[in-house]
Amino acid sequence: MADERRLEGRTALVTGASGGLGAHFAEVLARQGARVVLTARRLDKVEAYAAAIGRTGAEAHARALDVSDPASITAVFAEAAAAIGPVDILVNNAGVSGEGRAIDLTPDAWDQAFDVNVRGVFFCAQAAARQMIDSDAASRGGGRTINVASIAAHTVLPGLVAYNASKAAVGMMTRSLAREWARHHIAVNALCPGYVETDINRDWFATEGGQKQIKTFPRRRLMDAQALDDALLLLAGPGAGALTGSLITVDDGQSLG
Ligand SMILES: NC(=O)c1ccc[n+]([C@@H]2O[C@H](COP(=O)([O-])OP(=O)(O)OC[C@H]3O[C@@H](n4cnc5c(N)ncnc54)[C@H](OP(=O)(O)O)[C@@H]3O)[C@@H](O)[C@H]2O)c1
Repeated sequence: MADERRLEGRTALVTGASGGLGAHFAEVLARQGARVVLTARRLDKVEAYAAAIGRTGAEAHARALDVSDPASITAVFAEAAAAIGPVDILVNNAGVSGEGRAIDLTPDAWDQAFDVNVRGVFFCAQAAARQMIDSDAASRGGGRTINVASIAAHTVLPGLVAYNASKAAVGMMTRSLAREWARHHIAVNALCPGYVETDINRDWFATEGGQKQIKTFPRRRLMDAQALDDALLLLAGPGAGALTGSLITVDDGQSLG
């Protein structure tokens, strides 16, 4: 990717940035000139990733955030806006796998998937939108919210009923928020990745069942996180000026059956 620094002067907050895709997304946005705020519950991890990004010359900050706790969201967004600046770009990435077959799933497991993957996404989007509107992000090129959904938003992933339902909810939430905030020039879109090996699925893909699943994909492989970079930057940057309410699938063909 050419280093055009197309996000110079923009402030991007990434949830779930203590590893996996979130840490990667923060680094990609920083490389394009964005000031990044990495958040997750594990403060030591986000501090380490922010320090690594800082060593490249970019501006990176770390904050502890539990997206399942609306009070934590309110406090962290307010403090970060005061200390760093209002958010222009939100990458709503924190997520949990909500594993479990329907027949065995407990109410707690269901609630955990929805607390993080749906309620957390909604209240972070709301906190970001309030800042985007109050700070007139429209005059700085418009707000951008990128909800990291999954191919599970439109494809059944086996044994993941709560995850699938939560990601489908994120898809419709994305379209609803896009409609409501269009007049404020906040683009709200969802990125729907296929399987990339991270902590969320590493144990599964090490099993025989996981290896068999990979062989069912048309290209017989998992994706690299880098495969998401162009779509992320499209949704985060000027290219999303008229692109809102879309679900963009980047999955190496995995959901094609
Ligand atoms: N990897 C894939 O194949 C894949 C495919 C499609 C979509 N996705 C989606 O991509 C996103 C990132 O997943 P990943 O693969 O990078 O998984 P991961 O490595 O397990 O990362 C999940 C992140 O979410 C954070 N998180 C979990 N619960 C949280 C909470 N209550 N509050 C704040 N942060 C929380 C974790 O940080 P802490 O534990 O430090 O809080 C961690 O940083 C998820 O939404 C996932 O559904 C992943």
